[in-house]
Amino acid sequence: MINLKDKYKNIIENIGGIIPFKPEICIVLGSGLGGFADNFVNKFTIPTNEIPGYPKSTVEGHKGYLHFVEYNNKKILLVQGRLHFYEGYRLSDCLLPVHIASQMGVEKIILTNAAGGVNKYFIPGDLMLTSSFISFNIKKEMAEVMGAGNIESRNRSFPSEYLNDVIKRAASEEMIPLKEGVYWFNKGPSYETPAEIEMAARMNCDAVGMSTVHEAYYAHLMGMETSSISCITNMAAGISQNKLSHQEVIDTAELVKDKFERLVKKSIEL
Ligand code: 6GU
Repeated sequence: MINLKDKYKNIIENIGGIIPFKPEICIVLGSGLGGFADNFVNKFTIPTNEIPGYPKSTVEGHKGYLHFVEYNNKKILLVQGRLHFYEGYRLSDCLLPVHIASQMGVEKIILTNAAGGVNKYFIPGDLMLTSSFISFNIKKEMAEVMGAGNIESRNRSFPSEYLNDVIKRAASEEMIPLKEGVYWFNKGPSYETPAEIEMAARMNCDAVGMSTVHEAYYAHLMGMETSSISCITNMAAGISQNKLSHQEVIDTAELVKDKFERLVKKSIEL
């Protein structure tokens, strides 16, 4: 059993001593939204590699940042550079950014990600609001975290109906088409086989990705209004004849960036 409060006590004290304010909203930036923080001029940024004890990024040198920005009179924490299971991190590492948000008093969290399209009516570039999650192996992992009990036991909708409504209104005001569907977690690092995707499709999954589910469970358990938006960067194996490539994920994310950023900004405004 791991008690995240004990494990990360020093990190929380350290960050608590330097932040300019307590954030009320947290946005975790996925592959499609990496540059979202560039929209804000006045920000207070902590590179995570300057926080003693913060897990070291394995992929590139400096990709971990916690940005504190004020926008529309709201105090916001932007998490850039999440930690993925496929990089070899433990569950407790992967949950650290959300743990920080919860300890700083965040009430609402929007998790964003890049995902593969499983629903055959989706096309690359679509945005999908998560209606629900499927991940059996994450539930098993969650048992390792103290207090991470039954997500159905909490007296609040999951994902947050309230926040999902805000995001839907934001989409409609910005005239951004928004799909809605079930996000299926696959640990990675390899993409799924066509047979796995066919199974997922038959199980009512609409998109598949390698992040978010555990963060969403934990955020919900910590009492936050929790929602998630996926950028469909490519179709999953077997759904399209195209070969999967990381380049396609990057290219589509770049094309969709403006739309994705408008949606998140408007959601913060509402
Ligand atoms: Cl096809 N699968 C997974 N697991 N993650 C993805 C993806 C596919 N496309 C983008 N991210």
